[in-house]
Parts: sequence; C-alpha cells; structure tokens
Amino acid sequence: MRFSLSSTGLHAWNGDVLAVGLPQGDVDATATALEQRFAGITDALKQQEFKGKPGDQLVITPLGGGPQRLVVLGLGESDGIDTDRLRGAAARAAKASIGCEGNLGLHLPWTGTDATEAARICAEAVRLCLYKDQRFRKEPDPRRIPDALELIDLDPAAASGFTSVNATCAGVELARELVAAPPNVVTPAALADTAAGMARDHGLELKVLERSDCEANGMGAFLAVSQGSDLPPKFIHLIYRPEGEVKRRVALVGKGLTFDSGGYNLKVGAAQIDMMKFDMGGSAAVLGAMRSIAELKPAGVEVHMVVASCENMVNGSAVHPGDIVTAANGMTIEINNTDAEGRLTLADALLYACEQKPDAVVDLATLTGACVIALGDEMAGLWSNNDDLAEALDAAAQSGGEGLWRMPLRQSYRDGLKSLLADMKNTGPRPGGSITAALFLKEFVAKDTAWAHIDIAGPVWSDKGKGVNPAGATGYGVRTLVNWVLAQS
Ligand code: BES
Ligand code: MN
Ligand code: ZN
Repeated sequence: MRFSLSSTGLHAWNGDVLAVGLPQGDVDATATALEQRFAGITDALKQQEFKGKPGDQLVITPLGGGPQRLVVLGLGESDGIDTDRLRGAAARAAKASIGCEGNLGLHLPWTGTDATEAARICAEAVRLCLYKDQRFRKEPDPRRIPDALELIDLDPAAASGFTSVNATCAGVELARELVAAPPNVVTPAALADTAAGMARDHGLELKVLERSDCEANGMGAFLAVSQGSDLPPKFIHLIYRPEGEVKRRVALVGKGLTFDSGGYNLKVGAAQIDMMKFDMGGSAAVLGAMRSIAELKPAGVEVHMVVASCENMVNGSAVHPGDIVTAANGMTIEINNTDAEGRLTLADALLYACEQKPDAVVDLATLTGACVIALGDEMAGLWSNNDDLAEALDAAAQSGGEGLWRMPLRQSYRDGLKSLLADMKNTGPRPGGSITAALFLKEFVAKDTAWAHIDIAGPVWSDKGKGVNPAGATGYGVRTLVNWVLAQS
C-alpha cells in the first residue's frame, strides 16, 4: 500500500474516499467547513443526530464531482484523542472505504499525538484492516479497496512514520496466513519451508535440526510430544545478523504445535479441538517478526529465532500419560498430562536459545486456556524475571496497539509441579494454571538471562474481528516484537 501526506486541506482534497473524524463538541465547526464542499452535510448530520460519539458514523455518496464516498466518524471527547483512538478511527475509515478503489484520504484531529507516530499508527491500521484471506476459496470474491492512503493536513515532517509500516504489516500478514491455514497445510515441514524461503529471499541464516539431530542433542521433552504424529518434527533456527558490530543479541522463541489434539489427554467437550491449528501462533509471530526485521535491517542487534515444531497426536507410539522424559539439560519430567505439551517443546527450545548466549530471550506461546480465562482475547499475559525487559515489552506492545498485561511469577506455586519420581511434573493444579506454566518454562532459562514469556492463547484469534483485526487470525505479537527489536538498535 502507498502512504503519503496531503496538504490540500479538506476543501480541496481530490481523491476517491474521504474520511473525516469529528470529536464530540466540535461537530458544528467541522461540519461548517465540510459544508463548503459537500452542500447539505450539516443537515444530514443533524438529521442523524450525529453528536461525534465514538460509534457515530455517517457514510454518504456525494453527487457531483469530488470523492465518491464521504465518511464522517465520531471520535468521542476531544481531550482524550490518544493513539488508541486514532488507530480505531483509522480502522473504521478503512472498513468504510471497502467497495471503492483508488485513494483514501483521512483527516483526523492530529494535535494530541506526535505527528510521526500518528502517521505510522494510521497507516498500519488501514493496511491491517483491509487484509482479507481468500487463499482457500475456489473463486475469490472480487474486492474493491483503496491502494493508497493520504493523511490530510498532518505536519510534513510526519512522513518518516511511514518507513517501517509496509515491512511490519507484511510480517503481521505472514503470521495471520500461517495461523489461519489449516493443519493439513501448515505442518512442521511447511513452517521449516517458510523459514527457508525467508532465508533465501532476505539473506537470513537457517539451520533445521531433523529428528535424529534432536535425538543427538538429547531433546527428549520436545521429541516426546512429536512421537505420536506421522509427521516428522522440525527444530528451526533462523538468524538475522546485522551489518557491522553486534551490540546486543536477542532470541525469539515460538511455540510451534501445528495441531494440538491433546494427545491421550484428548481435548473433549468445550476444549475446542477444532481450533487447535492456531497452536503454532507463537511460531507464526516470531516468523512474522523475522520477516519484518529482515526487511528493516536494524543495526547492532542480532536476532535468533527458535521454533521446535511438531504435532501433538495419538497413535500407538504416542506418549502415555505418566511417561518420564529427559530434556536436553538432563532434567527429568513426568508427563502427567499430555495436553500440556507446549511447555515440553519450549523446554528444549529455551535451552537451545540460551546456548546462543543472548542478552534477552522472549518466548511467545498459545500456552494455556487459563490465560484466556484470566485476560480474554484482547490481551496476552506477560511473565518476566527482569523488570527492564518487561517494561520494554510493555512499551513495544503499547506502541503497536497490542494488549499485554504483566502477570506474577509466584515462586511458591512452583510446588505444584513437584513429582514423586521425576525432577518435576509438566502440570500443576488447575487454579493459577497459566502461572505454573510460566514457572515450568523458567526452569529451562539460564539463570542470568533476561527472559520474558508471553501467553498469546487469547489474542491469537478473534472470532468476530475487532479494531485492526478482521475475524480470524490476528497475527498477534509481530508488532510488539518488531517494535521491541527496533528499539534496541
Ligand atoms: N494449546 C493449549 C492451550 C490453549 C487452550 C490455547 C485453549 C487456546 C485455547 C495447550 O497446549 C493446552 O492444552 N493447555 C492445557 C494445559 C493443562 C492441561 C494444564 C490447558 O490450558 O487446558
Ligand atoms: Mn495442549
Ligand atoms: Zn497446545
């Protein structure tokens, strides 16, 4: 998508769809300005009792020359127009533009936010909103959507806000496509192929460990999860090396279960087995972030992406509930529940990531239903052993418009993972289930390494769609990770 700034003013802007935001209390003044161009608009707004409330929206097809469509958006109280409100307004404008080709002009009250930030946020929102996945239809619906966005009357210096937008959105869209694709398409081998394609197209370095390599490395926790599947596991390590000096090294680890049946602790009842294609959402987020990073080429920061990918299935060789397995560091784990498989794969992935001697490790995983119960589908949970890292991730999520909420690593709950026979069990009691899951992961992180775990089980998917997300896969996590990595360069 093309992004630009326009200084024509509302009256002279000549494009295809014009979207104008009106704050509450400011309706009359802006309406008067619009009236010069669109005669009758003041009456139309009055008739609709348009007050500028957040949900208010008027779409008209002006007769005569000029834009084919005029969209008037209510923005709510004028003193509280922050970045979230701008993002939401840009998203509504984009949705209201569907059906028109050409360019979309957007005019919002720009004063509350840094102009460069405003440009970035609106551009991101519009591109992300207009995305539609039609890969699996025999006949895709013909779509008419704008291919250019012009922000009207924004400070000319703001154009630098556009520079990262297309690369970031391409990463989000890759993540959405990986998550949305069914489990007979996105297999562990398909994730490895995606990484190989990125390595080839963007000059990244790639290592894929096959089952035999993982055996040689003693990755018994990861391999135990994969052993009931007919598909071979793939352990994927993708590396971005900056030109010049490396000042910081970070690792991004993603849970990559391309299908989670639960294993012999089969998902039944309300467990939504049919949605468990999205259990590779963490790996989609880190692959998407690598896609963006490869294009943006941040200086000074080396990025290691690690994904231990497999399926959790049932057959005659699948893990029995009760099996004791050994992770790559020699720690023994009693698998008291085969459905707590993500943490087993992450155990070996985190051990491997820490061997790269990173300054910080961040893992993303659709790890627990408990986290969805706690935070719903608009926020991921964040656990960290390092306050600076937690704050940096919080800022990165905020600037990307992704909900993130810090949760406690309450050490006393670690007792819930004690096993009679092995060093630990993989599952504790149901209460606080997302916390014990995080405490389990912590066991596999090198003591002096800053680490954060983000449970994305809720926001990986949006049933109805909301804000910048169409219904379905959201691509959650890419913007947070990209912003976080860029902030370190
Ligand atoms: N992939 C699931 C977590 C999940 C559940 C994500 C529902 C999204 C929606 C994970 O592997 C899992 O099954 N976790 C169990 C853990 C339990 C057995 C301790 C869960 O949350 O029920
Ligand atoms: Mn599971
Ligand atoms: Zn799972």
